[in-house]
Amino acid sequence: MQITGQTKITGLFGDPVQYSLSPAMHNAAFKHLQLPYVYLPFPVDKSKLAAAVEAVRALKITGVNVTVPHKEAVIPYLDRLDRSAERCGAVNTIVNRDGVLTGYNTDGQGFIDALAEAGFTPAGKKVVILGAGGAARAVAAALIDQGAAEIMLINRTLQKAAALADFLGPQASYRQLIPHSKVEVAAVDLVVNTLSIPFRQEDQWLLDLTDARGALFYDLRYGKMPSDFLVLADELNSPRLDGLGMLLHQGARAFTLFTGQAAPVEVMRAALLQS
Ligand code: ATR
Repeated sequence: MQITGQTKITGLFGDPVQYSLSPAMHNAAFKHLQLPYVYLPFPVDKSKLAAAVEAVRALKITGVNVTVPHKEAVIPYLDRLDRSAERCGAVNTIVNRDGVLTGYNTDGQGFIDALAEAGFTPAGKKVVILGAGGAARAVAAALIDQGAAEIMLINRTLQKAAALADFLGPQASYRQLIPHSKVEVAAVDLVVNTLSIPFRQEDQWLLDLTDARGALFYDLRYGKMPSDFLVLADELNSPRLDGLGMLLHQGARAFTLFTGQAAPVEVMRAALLQS
């Protein structure tokens, strides 16, 4: 792409950022639509987050995505929060409009878009979510906004699950994942894994998902090899999805916030798969 005096800057704030697929995905989209934008990785240390946000104003950067570990910490430095970010308590996209910085979160809607692509509509559905961290909150809030009937949170730390269930409202309940004690999951429509650890630690967590056979198994992680959670889905003859679709669609929605244009989703998908 040609950089000129008119090129607009977007990018990613995080630590680390060097393995992110977002630059490849966004730059492919800009190139395809011949838009005068560039998307850069910005490694931002925790202690420099305030300065980095100030730089968005000072350098008139059009917008940035925000990833680990800054999604929650960045909120106090912004001027406005969109409802999507309020609902998640976290920001993954900042848009700079004439110096006013607004925080959005496209993760939840990206997740819903990825489900829709697989033909899954959340309205009236029963869902189990493994985990109760930031990713679980984004996913659960989006599912409830789409009319999910029941959401069961299963988490190691009971207080975190209880606090999230309380925030989500009457559709949500929770159970604790206790080492060496069996947790049986009833028949549901969707099982979402948001855990940041490998799912299979049979010696430790005795999570029995046999009755969830037939549900859609959704792992927020992605990689070349199917995760052990997705291998279990295969063993249960159940449909499965990895997190690549969510990465794609959260990026597509951020692209539209940056540029005001519809995202070339298939171009972005191809860039992700190639990376
Ligand atoms: P994210 O923002 O990606 O959701 P997170 O907030 O760190 O990341 O949450 C990670 C999830 O993995 C949490 O549900 C966490 O459980 P706790 O709430 O008990 O911490 C879960 N997790 C992380 N390490 C774990 C471990 N060793 N055993 C079980 N669960 C673990």
